[in-house]
Amino acid sequence: MKKFFSVEDVTNVYEIIREALIIKKNPYAFRQMGKNRTIGLVFFNPSLRTRISCQKAAFNLGCHTWTMDIQQDTWRIEMNDGTIMKNTQEHLKEAISVMSLYCDILAVRTFPNLIDKDYDYQEVLFKKILNFSQVPVVNMESATLHPLQSLSDVITIAEYTSFFKKKCKVVLSWAPHFKPLPHSVANSFSQWISKIDQINFTITCPKKYEIHTKFSRGAKIIYKQKEAFTNADFIYAKNWSSYLCYGKIVGEHGDWIITKDKMQLTNKAKFMHCLPVRRNVIVEDNVLDGCDSIVLKQAENRIYAAQTIFLKILKCLS
Ligand code: CP
Repeated sequence: MKKFFSVEDVTNVYEIIREALIIKKNPYAFRQMGKNRTIGLVFFNPSLRTRISCQKAAFNLGCHTWTMDIQQDTWRIEMNDGTIMKNTQEHLKEAISVMSLYCDILAVRTFPNLIDKDYDYQEVLFKKILNFSQVPVVNMESATLHPLQSLSDVITIAEYTSFFKKKCKVVLSWAPHFKPLPHSVANSFSQWISKIDQINFTITCPKKYEIHTKFSRGAKIIYKQKEAFTNADFIYAKNWSSYLCYGKIVGEHGDWIITKDKMQLTNKAKFMHCLPVRRNVIVEDNVLDGCDSIVLKQAENRIYAAQTIFLKILKCLS
């Protein structure tokens, strides 16, 4: 693997899940692979899980890591080309090129601006980073995708279904939030799930919150949340802002919160969320704290998702 931007960089989704589960059983088995290797973790935006799970994944492989919070730790970075840099001190081109000289793998997080749909959806910033880096790049969440989260999510579903032994119904449910949020988790989850034949996938959201069709292709879209929940085996809750009215919150939909009553319509479904989650906004406490909540398992599996990807790239370097 030469880079990890999306599920399209993975040859076989089943195989990579299997590899992650093997690594999970024996996390230190490949400690020699990371000897004398460094992974640079670059954050244009905040993170708890991604940052620490990638550090732990690298440690398990015997790699050294460094972490850089852009703007906080660095000079003010200029993202645009051809500008007279009056208020910025270093251009993205030099910043990424130089950082890539100080590591063997560069992992980067860049959120969308949620203003310019084309800029975000063409992944302009991440494409520049891929271009400027002299080493393989890993997507730790870009404008439209969060593939390390999605890999962790499918690993988690594999664990709870004895590796997709029989067909199961997975529902991605939009849930309310006060702020306009990125689409990356919903897009990426849909993209990965669509590669698994045993999953019957439904997306439920209010009208005008439909995700881009290139990601939702193959999913059933249901606008009545309770109807979608019927017989579900997994409920994945997430807020995202509108794609149609780009980056906006459209209408009042506080009643889309995930409640115990709604979960009772399901087939004793497991509750999933990528975290961080706003309690009693997205989901009620009693669901998040209930015995069917598997959010911590998802968070734990972030280590093995990252470790599997880092290992695949390290194998290509050696
Ligand atoms: N789920 C996730 O990516 O969490 P962080 O934003 O804390 O990294």
